[in-house]
Amino acid sequence: MGDKVLVVGGGGREHALVLALYQSDGVGKVYAAPGNAGTASFAENVDIGDGDIPALRDFASKKSIDLTVVGPEAPLVAGIVDEFQAAGLPVFGPTAAAAQVEGSKVFAKELMLDAGVPTADAYPCETLDDAKRCIAEMGAPVVVKADGLAAGKGVTIAVTEEEAVAAAGAALEEGKFGDSGKRVLIEDYLTGEEASILAVTDGENVVSMIPSQDHKRVYDGDEGPNTGGMGAYAPAPVVDDETLRKIENQVLKPTIKALADAGATYSGALYAGLMFDFEGPKVLEFNCRFGDPETQVVLPLLKSDFYELCAKTAAGNLRDTELEWNRRAAVTVVTVSGGYPGEYKKGFPISGLDALVDDPDIIVYHAGTKLDGDKVVTAGGRVLGVTAIGGDIAKAVKKAYTAVRKIDYKDIYYRKDIAYKALARNDEGDV
Ligand code: AMP
Ligand code: GLY
Repeated sequence: MGDKVLVVGGGGREHALVLALYQSDGVGKVYAAPGNAGTASFAENVDIGDGDIPALRDFASKKSIDLTVVGPEAPLVAGIVDEFQAAGLPVFGPTAAAAQVEGSKVFAKELMLDAGVPTADAYPCETLDDAKRCIAEMGAPVVVKADGLAAGKGVTIAVTEEEAVAAAGAALEEGKFGDSGKRVLIEDYLTGEEASILAVTDGENVVSMIPSQDHKRVYDGDEGPNTGGMGAYAPAPVVDDETLRKIENQVLKPTIKALADAGATYSGALYAGLMFDFEGPKVLEFNCRFGDPETQVVLPLLKSDFYELCAKTAAGNLRDTELEWNRRAAVTVVTVSGGYPGEYKKGFPISGLDALVDDPDIIVYHAGTKLDGDKVVTAGGRVLGVTAIGGDIAKAVKKAYTAVRKIDYKDIYYRKDIAYKALARNDEGDV
């Protein structure tokens, strides 16, 4: 029969989690709540929102779910894991206390500074006067971050002090982010290249995954406003093996130990967003979950059984776990609705998906889609993540764009330069 697994969430990351679990040996049945048109191919979608914790708990209990894997941060920060654990239900993810590494940027910063984890200097401020003083002291450019969850919109990179003061005012006085903006962090601006490390931990042992790189800005060349992520690739050559060991020893392990020492033992996926400059890696942010769209390039290259990894994590049993990786490369190009991350229209039929299902090196992850009768239509800003696997990044990029060009819907938009930083390194011959 196999085990029953529930995936909470309904974006591209959750499609990738559903597929990896579906392909795992021990899994017999996958449910997705709420899922999307893509997860429906491998999982039974359940009509429960990812914020309805009591309904999710009751569903898991009624169906005797063997493991629930939580995708997004909001239910984790709201305590879904505490709720499941209290009901004796096995669950993959951190408790609310541990999820504060993402739920409060002030908490995360204090934890890092106390544990000696390399990160930008930053000061928490609760009043605009305080923020103005900090901004004047630090000078522009400077980064203003809302303390709490803000759906990826809480960070302002201010080029001038006026811009920084305006961002702090919007959060502290105008309530732009609600309670999430009652405190802000005024942070030193870092330069360099970014990368993401996804890791799993049981609170004591850490297993890191291959490095990846996201593309947050909407336009080519990293121009324009921030988005939820326009594409990703793995492995990211900015992080070599030696640097990855350094990140494990200087960032992941001390952070996990500091959380355990503070009585908030961390279990689940821990995401470190890092900036690499001449001094080495510095943490920009922690997330209490897998990255989106990083998961869509990392999991397709994982050879080890993903369900076994999640189950061992949830059971506190990760000692001596080593992951096996396919030595190829993966690239995801995200297609969005025209206008995103601003206003956009939904409900347009998507064509070209059938032409891609038989290619073993292509996976089309759904993010904002839904079924309208038997048609798949657009239903969000980020619509699809087209992942291609190739012998190297350049080959994967080529395959991904060949596949993307077969897909169409009204006002489709995607970046044309995903993985350009990795390709530039190859051109320079320094990889
Ligand atoms: P966060 O949500 O904290 O990752 O911030 C979103 C994005 O803002 C990051 O991926 C970076 O591109 C940028 N960012 C955050 N903190 C800094 C910083 N201290 N210096 C420069 N860029 C930053
Ligand atoms: N890709 C950025 C994130 O998952 O937060």
